[in-house]
Amino acid sequence: MRIRNVLLVFLGAVCVVLVVFGTVRFQGRIEAAVLPPPSEVPAGFDDETNGLVPQGDHLFHKGQFDEVEGPEDGLGPLYNAQSCRECHQSVVSGAVSQVTELRAGHTGPHGHFVAANITIGDGAFTVLNRSLVNDRAICPNADFPDLSIQEHVPPAEHIRALRTSLNILGDGFVEAVADADLLAIAAKQRHETHGEVHGQAILVDVLEAPGTKRVGRFGWKDQHASLLSFSADAYLNEMGFTSRLLPDEVTTLCNPKGVQEPNDRLGTDGLFDIDHFTLFMRATKAPPRDEPLAATLDARIGSDLFDQVGCATCHVCSLTTVPPGTKINGGTFTVPDALGNKVFHPFSDFLLHHLGTGDGIVQNGGQETAQKLRTPPLWGVRTHSRLMHDGKSLNFHDAIERHRGEGKMATEKFNALSEEEKRRLITFLKSL
Ligand code: HEC
Ligand code: HEC
Repeated sequence: MRIRNVLLVFLGAVCVVLVVFGTVRFQGRIEAAVLPPPSEVPAGFDDETNGLVPQGDHLFHKGQFDEVEGPEDGLGPLYNAQSCRECHQSVVSGAVSQVTELRAGHTGPHGHFVAANITIGDGAFTVLNRSLVNDRAICPNADFPDLSIQEHVPPAEHIRALRTSLNILGDGFVEAVADADLLAIAAKQRHETHGEVHGQAILVDVLEAPGTKRVGRFGWKDQHASLLSFSADAYLNEMGFTSRLLPDEVTTLCNPKGVQEPNDRLGTDGLFDIDHFTLFMRATKAPPRDEPLAATLDARIGSDLFDQVGCATCHVCSLTTVPPGTKINGGTFTVPDALGNKVFHPFSDFLLHHLGTGDGIVQNGGQETAQKLRTPPLWGVRTHSRLMHDGKSLNFHDAIERHRGEGKMATEKFNALSEEEKRRLITFLKSL
């Protein structure tokens, strides 16, 4: 009798355990299965948070992004500008500016691209193997009146390129797209165009998760996948600020004494500047459409024509972010509700393409990426005065005509449109 009771209690306990675990696992599946349809991301040129952080915090992080820094804070020795905003400003902080940057290098063994070597300080130091050439320097100055460290491109560095600034608004959503979705776009476009269009995804290092890689999506060469990685990169290469992720100065010539290394300071809130920049960018809203123009018949027909001639093969209209709770960037960032399961309209596939406009520069991809560029997202493109990576196209017609290589078929179909159809397609671009 006693043994039977013990057995029953034991079996009961086993059942309870099975039911509890079963329900938990089952619920997990239900949750995945009943994930609501993705919601539209908020859009606006209004300096408002997308919901990731409260508005007050967003403005505080924006203040760090806007802050003008000096040599006493860590600026330089070589740099391009004094604040992030200087190159990401029109029409609000985080958007674009007309600024271009200089890159250089030369052809090495086997015809491979080799980044520039630039000697500065009258031969005192050589900046080795770096394609970015900084346009500004902090000396000569009162402490180093005779030391000139301004970089100049030597004749031997015969590959030279200009790159325009890029929009950052809405990039938190771009960061939250799964690698698999970008790879699926690449496969789809290759299939649908019988290989004529074959966007390339490259795997790049996530600096904050050493040893891990992710599909690159930021920068003209898809050189980064994470906004924190990009922040550290930009802080060093645009402003000369070292940080925990990139602690080495490009040169220590005329580096002011008494400035802490890494330069990036811990704020009163326990976050570093690169964390503030990242939070600012992740919390930005997407660039909004010109809604009245988008609603016109011209723009709506233009949108259809954009799809029909094949622009949308690369300038992909809609992407969806991963479900909230998904870990990305090598497990260092858990996508929150404000960024997860959202649909947005960047008009890009974030892949590298050969368009015949290539600048010959290799960054984080292999040598085969030298002549390729990332499809620039067209959201907010109506606010750009100069188009294409080099800023050399000054209107939409010019930009379209430069699409050769993988874009040739679309250009030919565009050219075959009637004048009215072309005008409508351009009207659609003006509404973005
Ligand atoms: C001197 C101008 C300049 C400054 C200053 C600058 N940027 Fe940029 N930014 C650029 C340019 C140019 C690009 C495109 C770079 C490329 O791919 O060649 C860019 C691209 C980016 C991108 C990639 C956007 C995308 O969607 O692909 C991010 C993110 C970014 N910058 C963040 C920052 C942050 C954060 C700062 C401040 C630490 C900063 N930038 C300072 C000029 C600048
Ligand atoms: C094969 C992929 C592909 C196709 C198809 C394509 N584009 Fe592009 N587009 C790109 C790439 C890559 C660039 C950047 C090239 C560069 O900077 O040199 C670009 C640049 C642009 C730009 C400049 C954006 C900026 O911010 O500077 C516009 C505008 C544009 N494309 C519109 C179109 C239109 C309109 C069509 C259809 C007629 C089209 N594209 C078809 C890949 C494509």
